[in-house]
Amino acid sequence: MVRHIAPKGFSSTVQSEFYNDLITSNNKTTRRKREKVKGVFAIGFLAIVTLFTIDSSSPKASITSSIPANELFPLSDRSLQEMEKYKQEYAHERPLSSKTTMLLGIFSTNDDEKYVHRRTYIRETYLNTGDPRICKLSEYIHQREYNMHPICQVPYTFIIAAGGKHRPYDHDDKEPITITPKKSKRINDEDDCTYLNIRESMEDGKSATYFKFGAEIASKYGIDYITKLDDDTIPSPTMLMDFIEDELPPSPFNRRIFGGRVWTTKANIYYGAGAFYFLSADLAHHISHNLSAKDRKSLSHFPKTEDADMGKFLFTHDRPLKFVNLSAHQFWEHDFKTEEAFRTRWSEILDPNRKEPRLPRRAKSVPWKHLCPNDILNPDGL
Ligand SMILES: *[C@@H]1O[C@H](CO)[C@@H](O)[C@H](O)[C@H]1NC(C)=O
Ligand SMILES: *[C@@H]1O[C@H](CO)[C@@H](O)[C@H](O)[C@H]1NC(C)=O
Repeated sequence: MVRHIAPKGFSSTVQSEFYNDLITSNNKTTRRKREKVKGVFAIGFLAIVTLFTIDSSSPKASITSSIPANELFPLSDRSLQEMEKYKQEYAHERPLSSKTTMLLGIFSTNDDEKYVHRRTYIRETYLNTGDPRICKLSEYIHQREYNMHPICQVPYTFIIAAGGKHRPYDHDDKEPITITPKKSKRINDEDDCTYLNIRESMEDGKSATYFKFGAEIASKYGIDYITKLDDDTIPSPTMLMDFIEDELPPSPFNRRIFGGRVWTTKANIYYGAGAFYFLSADLAHHISHNLSAKDRKSLSHFPKTEDADMGKFLFTHDRPLKFVNLSAHQFWEHDFKTEEAFRTRWSEILDPNRKEPRLPRRAKSVPWKHLCPNDILNPDGL
């Protein structure tokens, strides 16, 4: 039975075991299957006829053999006809062979043309390697709805706050969490942006609202981890996939796990630095549902600091949390603010002939600088 469909925009350069069947359209596949079924029956029928001929040497056998097999053995293709029903019945179950999934939220904004432009070259670099395990969120949802085993494991979306000035910074009311903004030239038609129904900000409520959205998507479409990354961060997609598959357990074992490059506050809270960090779906739910916008505001640092505040929110949990420390295995780099710097570093990350590969890199394990401004050892950290 066909349980997989080829994703939209499937790149023919990447093959996987089940793809061979999928490239042909459903109609063609069905037709081919029918022909196969007919063929099998025809052979079976001929075998029976042959036996019959040998046994009785009756001349009648040659007359019946001219009747097409499918008229003698009418059998509709039941499995294909009932596929819709079958899919619905089991749609809520994760397949046993489930692979870990992660939502990749790339923080962007329409506030300035330069950020709109960043999306263009991000799409052309690390989002454009042809790996079918990474896809647009809309494509992932499409695959989940029609497919027991989506090929895509890492859906991505650009996160933009588009609620306007009359909306709060942190989503905490009954209004929808996402909106479709009115057409404008900045709303590019790539179908890969998520517009949060809040006022735009860097440090204030955008991440909490994103994780609220992520928790919702996670429970609807089976996402195990939710990642936030900046639009000046360049991850290595292959190392990201290896990390997900080797280190991050899928549901139901994805509990109370978060990670990133270690950063700390004076208040002894450690957290994943803002360039790239992730939370398991239950933790995304915790910080966005167990805490209200008011709780989050009172927990926030002054001035508000997106990643450090996230650390404070997470540590309100009353169970032990598992932190995946990526300081010694950082598979991304960040702080590439111009297209040229971004593209140059991306080609270096890809370069197989570099004497010293760019990634993974070992980050300074304890970032002293902001903790001990007058530190006598090494102000840049260890
Ligand atoms: C989160 O809230 C739910 C009820 O909404 C409660 O059952 C649960 O214990 C809370 N979890 C934490 C960690 O506070
Ligand atoms: C994180 O890993 C680094 C490098 O291995 C280590 O030095 C540091 O102590 C670790 N920090 C935490 C909080 O686990």
